[in-house]
Amino acid sequence: MPTPSLIIHGGAGSIPDAEVPDYINGCRLAAQAGWAVLQNGGPALEAVEAAVKVLEDDPTFDAGRGSHLNAAGYVEMDAIIVDGATLDNGAVAAVQRVQNPISLARLVMKRSKHSLLVGAGAEAFARLHGVPDWPEENLITSRELERWQKGQEAGEDYTQADFAHDTVGAVARDANGHLAAATSTGGTAHKLPGRVGDSPLIGSGAYADDESGAASATGWGESLMKIVISKAACDLIANGHPAQAAAEAVIKKLAERVNGLGGIIVVDARGNVGHAFNTPRMARAWVTPDGQIVTEC
Ligand code: GLY
Repeated sequence: MPTPSLIIHGGAGSIPDAEVPDYINGCRLAAQAGWAVLQNGGPALEAVEAAVKVLEDDPTFDAGRGSHLNAAGYVEMDAIIVDGATLDNGAVAAVQRVQNPISLARLVMKRSKHSLLVGAGAEAFARLHGVPDWPEENLITSRELERWQKGQEAGEDYTQADFAHDTVGAVARDANGHLAAATSTGGTAHKLPGRVGDSPLIGSGAYADDESGAASATGWGESLMKIVISKAACDLIANGHPAQAAAEAVIKKLAERVNGLGGIIVVDARGNVGHAFNTPRMARAWVTPDGQIVTEC
């Protein structure tokens, strides 16, 4: 029987030194939540959702509570979940007033005949299926409000080089050998209302295929989507690259081909994990074959 595997990330970016302990702690808690599912024999799909929900609820991360505000001063979130057994996927984009976009993405996969719902349509679908209206103030943190106010005062135009932190994700293999990936984000700070990055796009923000691997990306979405980074990593695995080599190769391509900044986590069909990034930091945690959780940032 395959041994379960799990790796999660809390975003690539220029995470300030003072915030590193919060990132490490949040990643550890998320890995524990996902690992608990896998250890109880649960499916990879449930494990990645459980891990990402912990990260969405933690105000440290740019997803759910703690999301960056857009230029108009409100939160719009994107998320995707992918089932490597069937290639089924569900996603939401530019969605407001939802506590856990990753669970809404899973609901889109399970309860609709569509793959991606956006904006008001996604919110209406959420309410129809009993997902409560989550007040905007529950998503906005004082840190993000200050960041937004500074940006407004300075007329700041955020660029790829100075983004602070970005996106969360998880990939897993379960005891039945099935893979899954999940990614969730508040997007980039001061994005235009309606802007959607890589995260909810199949193959860019996440991908999973039991026949190759699973991947979740983080970073500047406009660059990540140009190289369809998560599918690219899984294709390299399918062509014989070990998980770590695949992660490093797509980050190299991100830098060299499109001058992009970001990171990726991967797990391959044999349960090996890999991670790579070209930003100052990427918060991450994974479980070793003997069940120990390792964190790095
Ligand atoms: N990687 C998340 C975004 O660009 O929105």
